[in-house]
Amino acid sequence: MSDIPTAPTHDWNGDSGSRWAANLDRLDLMLEDFGRAAIDAADAKPGEHVLDIGCGAGVSSFLIASKVAPAGHVLGVDISEQLVEIARAAAPPGAPLEFRCADAATHPLPAAHFDLIFSRFGVMFFDDPVAAFDHMRGALKPGGRLAFICWRGAHENDWVRLPMAAIRDIVQPAPADPDAPGPFAFGDRDRLNAILERAGFSEIGIDPFDATISYGRGATREAAIDDALDLAFQVGPLSRALGDQPDDIRARAATAVRAAFAERPGVNSVLIDGAAWIVTARNRTG
Ligand SMILES: C[S@@+](CC[C@H](N)C(=O)[O-])C[C@H]1O[C@@H](n2cnc3c(N)ncnc32)[C@H](O)[C@@H]1O
Repeated sequence: MSDIPTAPTHDWNGDSGSRWAANLDRLDLMLEDFGRAAIDAADAKPGEHVLDIGCGAGVSSFLIASKVAPAGHVLGVDISEQLVEIARAAAPPGAPLEFRCADAATHPLPAAHFDLIFSRFGVMFFDDPVAAFDHMRGALKPGGRLAFICWRGAHENDWVRLPMAAIRDIVQPAPADPDAPGPFAFGDRDRLNAILERAGFSEIGIDPFDATISYGRGATREAAIDDALDLAFQVGPLSRALGDQPDDIRARAATAVRAAFAERPGVNSVLIDGAAWIVTARNRTG
C-alpha cells in the first residue's frame, strides 16, 4: 500500500475529462518531451495504420498522422466525449485522421488491421488490463507493434511525490493500492511485463525515460509557482486528495505545497522530475 492516493477516482466522461480539457495547454507542455520520446519509439512510417488509445484532445494523433500521411491513417479512440470533440475540432484539415468516442477495452475494432497501437499516458485506466490489451491486440496485424508511454511509480515522480509529502501532516488520505487503475498503475515493471505477456505480446521492452517537467510557468518566478499550485489543485492525485476537504484545510495545504514547489529550480518555471516507462512490444500472433 502507498500513502499516495492513486485510487481509481477517474471519471473521464465527467470531472476528470473536464479538468483535463480546461488545462490542455499546460498539460501538453508538461507531457511534450514524454510524448516525443514515445513517438520516436513507435517509429510510425508513411502508409501505416495507427490506433491511438486514450488519445485525449488528439495532440499525439496529429503528430503521428503527419508521419503516416498521405496513404496511412490514424484512428484516435477516447472514452471522453468532451476531449474527442476538442480533437475533432482541432484536427489539421485534410489529415488522415478519425476520432471515435469509445471504451478502448471493449469497443469493436477491425481485426488484424493496424500496424501500430500507440498511447501517450492513455492505457493505465483499464479495470482489467490483460483483457483490454488482449482485445486491442486483436486489432493489430500479425507481428504488429505496440508502443506507449506510462508513468513509473508515484514515489518516483516528484510532480506528485513532493506535493503529497507536503500535505502529509494536513490530510491523511486512505492508503491506495498502487496497482489500481490510475496514472501509476503500471509503475511495477514486472507486473506490466506480465500483463503484456498474458495479453499476447512478445518482444516486450520496458525502458525508463526521465525528463524534467515544466510543471508551472509564468512571467515571473512567483507567477510560475502559483501556476504550478493551481495545476496541482486542479489535476492529479493532489486535487483528488483535497477534493472533499473544507476550505481551511485546502488553504493550509496550498501554503505547504507552494513552499514545496518554491524549493524546486526554475526561472519563469517550476522544474520537477518526471519518471516514465517507454514500452514497446509486438503482437505474438504472426
Ligand atoms: C492522462 S489522459 C492522456 C490523454 C492524451 N493521450 C494526452 O497525452 O494528452 C488519459 C486519457 O485516457 C482516456 N481513457 C481512459 N480510459 C479509457 C478507456 N477505457 N478507453 C479509451 N480512453 C480512455 C481518458 O479519457 C483520457 O483522455
